Amino acid sequence: MHTGILYVHSWLRWVVLVLLVLATVQAWMGWKGNKPWTATHKKLNLFTLISIHTQLLLGFALYFMGPWFSQLTSNTKVVMKTRALRYFAVEHLFLMLVAIIVFTIGYGRAKRLTEDNKKHKAAAIFFTIALVCILASIPWPFLKNGVGRALFKF
Ligand code: HEM
Repeated sequence: MHTGILYVHSWLRWVVLVLLVLATVQAWMGWKGNKPWTATHKKLNLFTLISIHTQLLLGFALYFMGPWFSQLTSNTKVVMKTRALRYFAVEHLFLMLVAIIVFTIGYGRAKRLTEDNKKHKAAAIFFTIALVCILASIPWPFLKNGVGRALFKF
C-alpha cells in the first residue's frame, strides 16, 4: 500500500509541475497581454488545483503511514539533527503545505475578482510563488545526504 502510494506521489509530481507551469504562463500572458478570462483559463486552473490537492492527500497518507510522523514525535532530537529524516519529516511537508495554501488562495481570489486583468494578475502572482516553493522542495536526485530521489520511479 505504502509503496503503491509512493509511486503515484512520485509520478503525479510531473502532472502537477506541467499543469502548474502552464497555468502560471497562461496567467502571466493574460495579465501582461490584457487578455479576456476564458473557459480555458478556468479549466486549466481547476485541473491544476485538483492535481495539487490529490498530491496533498497522497502526501499525508505517506506521512502518517511511513516512519516520518512517528519518528518526529518519538525521537524529535535525532530527526532534527539528521538531514535525511528532517527533510521529509519537516521541510518537505512544511514548504509543500505553504505552496498548496498559496496556490489555493490565488485560485480562489482569481475566481472571485470581477475584472479580467485582476483575475490574471492574482493567478500570476500566487501561482508563481507556489511554483517556486514546489520546485524548492522536491527531493531532486542531486540533493545530498540521502535526501535525493529518482526523477522517474520504476
Ligand atoms: C505538490 C506537492 C508535492 C509534490 C510535488 C511532492 C513530491 C514528492 C516527491 C517527488 C517525492 C519522492 C518520491 C520518490 O521516492 O520518488 C516525495 C516524497 C514524499 N512526500 Fe511529497 N510532494 C508533495 C507534497 C507532499 C505533502 C503535502 C506531503 C505531506 C503531507 C508529502 C509527503 C511526502 C513524504 C512523507 C515523502 C517520502 C515518502 C517515503 O519515502 O516514505 N508530500 N514527494
